[in-house]
Amino acid sequence: MTIEELLQSASIPKNISPNPALDAILLLAKVTKKSKEFILAHPEKKLTANQTKTFQKLIARRQKSEPMAYLLGEQEFYGLAFKVSPAVLIPRPETELIVDEIINTEKNPNSKFQIPNSSIIDVGTGSGCIIISLAKLLADKNIKFFGLDISPKALTIAKTNAKKILDTGIRRHDPVVKFVKSDLLKALVSPTNDLRLTTNDSTVIIANLPYLTAAQIKNSPSIKYEPRLALAGGRDGLVLYKKLLEQIAEIKKTKPQTSFTVYLEIDPRQTKLISAMIKKILPAGKIEIKKDLSGKNRLVIIDL
Ligand SMILES: C[S@@+](CC[C@H](N)C(=O)[O-])C[C@H]1O[C@@H](n2cnc3c(N)ncnc32)[C@H](O)[C@@H]1O
Repeated sequence: MTIEELLQSASIPKNISPNPALDAILLLAKVTKKSKEFILAHPEKKLTANQTKTFQKLIARRQKSEPMAYLLGEQEFYGLAFKVSPAVLIPRPETELIVDEIINTEKNPNSKFQIPNSSIIDVGTGSGCIIISLAKLLADKNIKFFGLDISPKALTIAKTNAKKILDTGIRRHDPVVKFVKSDLLKALVSPTNDLRLTTNDSTVIIANLPYLTAAQIKNSPSIKYEPRLALAGGRDGLVLYKKLLEQIAEIKKTKPQTSFTVYLEIDPRQTKLISAMIKKILPAGKIEIKKDLSGKNRLVIIDL
């Protein structure tokens, strides 16, 4: 069949995709390993029987609302192309706010990032999108970067992304970002050499942890292909954040000189609940709430 015939035969319902025609073009570009411009410019080109079959299978998966990012194996985040698989959450545009905030803070000459020995630790790193974007943008700074996740499959994807995005071809003793398997910050509570903090450290902890309730997951069919481990946050959506805050309180007790800044991505409806939780668990913490581009509370920043 020709490109034109295949594109005409591909019918993706409007309630599944906001742009069915573009989806079909992108899938055809993937199958033929050509650009989308090539697909548009060569409607007469005939595809092999194998290519036709592969394309039709991808369309059938898209018709069942499988996300484009999983079908293409890639998602853009902060202008960088991240490999994704169903083992990781698809990076969301609203999460770019964390990267924006940290980059803007770092530019301030009085910021904690100017302290020697500063570290940025991304808890629940998934595809590694946050920490790899930061490592790329702050490459010339004296900062150590860590990505933690409980899922070994997610860590494998994150390491592939780090190699693809950060590898400059120069041989280094240490990777730019160290990825560590850890249940939240457990690796810090019983630290390995990599994660040992010195007394005057400034430590930034980032977490976009699963924060959806069971009801929210049930009512969002579009996320049914994404890993539950990346979405489910228990009864009120805040079970993992509560555990994380308790771990931070423990670590702060043993390292009172270390300054911590914590960035938590939240569901806007959790603002009150999480603020109360922070006041209880980290009473000395200074709380700031930042809004995303749609004007919704999205980021909680705690200074300790
Ligand atoms: C919402 S996803 C965020 C992924 C990525 N940071 C992003 O913003 O796209 C949450 C991640 O937390 C991980 N996770 C879930 N429970 C965890 C735990 N107890 N300790 C560490 N990571 C956990 C999941 O495997 C998943 O990769």
